[in-house]
Amino acid sequence: METPVRTKVKELLKKEPGIDVLAKGWVRTKRGNKGIAFIALNDGSTINNIQIVVDKNAFAEDLLSKITTGACIGVIGTLVESVGSGQAVEIQAKRIEIYGECDPMKFPLQKKDTSFEYLRTVAHMRMRTNTFGAVLRIRNQMAFAIHEYFHGKGFVYLNTPLITASDCEGAGQMFQVTTLDLNNVPKNKKGQVDFSGDFFGKQTSLTVSGQLEGELGATALGEIYTFGPTFRAENSNTPRHLAEFWMIEPEMAFYDIKDNMDLAEDFIKYLVKCALERCYEDVKFLNDKYDDSLIDRLYGVIDTEFVRLPYTEGIKILEEAVKNGTTFEYPVAWGVDLQSEHERYLVEKHFQKPVILTDYPKDIKAFYMKQNEDGKTVRAMDVLFPKIGEIIGGSEREASLEKLEQRIDELEMSRKNLEWYIDTRRFGSCPHSGFGLGFERLLLFVTGMTNIRDVIPFPRTPKNAEY
Ligand code: 4AD
Ligand code: MG
Repeated sequence: METPVRTKVKELLKKEPGIDVLAKGWVRTKRGNKGIAFIALNDGSTINNIQIVVDKNAFAEDLLSKITTGACIGVIGTLVESVGSGQAVEIQAKRIEIYGECDPMKFPLQKKDTSFEYLRTVAHMRMRTNTFGAVLRIRNQMAFAIHEYFHGKGFVYLNTPLITASDCEGAGQMFQVTTLDLNNVPKNKKGQVDFSGDFFGKQTSLTVSGQLEGELGATALGEIYTFGPTFRAENSNTPRHLAEFWMIEPEMAFYDIKDNMDLAEDFIKYLVKCALERCYEDVKFLNDKYDDSLIDRLYGVIDTEFVRLPYTEGIKILEEAVKNGTTFEYPVAWGVDLQSEHERYLVEKHFQKPVILTDYPKDIKAFYMKQNEDGKTVRAMDVLFPKIGEIIGGSEREASLEKLEQRIDELEMSRKNLEWYIDTRRFGSCPHSGFGLGFERLLLFVTGMTNIRDVIPFPRTPKNAEY
């Protein structure tokens, strides 16, 4: 018998019956009766399994006993029309090869515990489940769609450094990078750590954002975007925070805050549409299994115009809600940073659609944002989403050299460390804007998953850095 070339399950399921095929994959289930066995085989190419029908009399007992859940096998057989498998075709097995056995007693993926909490403890294996297969295929399609979107608009993909000496957000949440001997840290006369002998000759960290370098790119190439990992040492143990997450940061010369909002809205809608068009089977699986309003929510975002609302108006709505009996854990007043409960009230209760909140108090936002004429607010924009809260943070940037330097001084930041950044305002300064989309926050939205640890293969959170 000639060996057919291996075909992925996704392709097999689309083929016409009547040909010999070779399928390879992992056994999801095996059931049957005395004479016949039905194997559900999956190879990760699709949420769907291909059914293998085995005439037990034609195979050795020993071989059949090794076909257990989790085992890896190759099957040569004839593709035939299927009556009962839920798919158009199935494979009538002629030859089976066991590549890797799987002891059912020791296999970490058991039917008895499939909770997300448990699966996080065996994250090295959870990609073999239907749910994580679906989530990671969607993640892959979204990453591709992001590049496609910006490429189509002529944006330049810019690689900004992961190791940096500057704190973009000024929030002091940086992981330090050093090769100093931590058991014998060199100190200067003042008793402070002497970084001059460190690898880079100065104090460095993992980046919290590629924006500052992105601005250098935008003020040279016009429109750029970054797409890479960012790191935050914030000790927030929430379902929406990771210590290592991926961010997409477009930065555009000659865009004002309105252009910035238009781009953000169009970008998210494009991605959600792609999820529905290119990952429908996976999205449908997640919808049917966990959250049957997921697909409606996705269509809801595509079909609706986002609300655009100044922060001050948002606070009024929240204060009104409190007056009318709504209780929040954190108090609401002009000047406070909004908590996710506040953001979700505006999005889910009040407007029932995505909201772009603008013109935040300058004291709760980063130094680089363009100051408004009122002297109190900055041209910031946060995109707030149902079930998620903040999915995008961005702003028009301060283009005035004088105002930027003043703000850096007010915040007692080091101007010396930022000279290279300030140069963009010294030499041919231009109006420009940008934003950052949290990739995993986007994935929470399009998959309907409720914990950010479940939309990234290897989550890093406080006290957790497995693998
Ligand atoms: O609002 P952030 O902090 O904005 C910036 O970093 C800007 N420099 C972006 C820019 O204008 N270029 O972060 C942007 C987005 C948030 O809206 C959120 O979606 C995501 O990044 N994010 C996180 N995602 C997961 N875990 C965390 N700890 C996150 N912190 C922020
Ligand atoms: Mg933010």
